[in-house]
Amino acid sequence: MREVWRDGKPVEQPLGKVIALCNSSDLVDRGEAVPFDVVYCGQTCRGFAVRYGAQAYAYLNRCLHVPMEMDYQPNRFFDMTGNWIICATHGAIYRPDTGECAGGPCRGKLVKIALTERDGVVHWHTAHNLLPLEF
Ligand code: FES
Repeated sequence: MREVWRDGKPVEQPLGKVIALCNSSDLVDRGEAVPFDVVYCGQTCRGFAVRYGAQAYAYLNRCLHVPMEMDYQPNRFFDMTGNWIICATHGAIYRPDTGECAGGPCRGKLVKIALTERDGVVHWHTAHNLLPLEF
């Protein structure tokens, strides 16, 4: 469950469907991402999961400057310092823990995808605008 606000009061909403993404050990602190397909607002897109410190995070792989994928090599999103997610095209940088733009031509936040980690497995959660790709 997650807390959302309605009419100035907190209410709990289900997190949607829970989908296994990868093993926890597949995500190394500031290492390569694990990509996955999603349908975001009706469009097929890629998401990616990374680990930053002890925590795993996932975002839609779509820059806020120009809506294009950001990895400079497949599954590589961290800059040389390991402190920022960087877009390869024009160098926008984002905070790995929140997805907020921290510099460059972007504005706002990356689209965050809810993750949970349990018993050595990372799962992502669907939302009203974020669904699994059906085959
Ligand atoms: S497309 Fe990402 S910084 Fe321009």
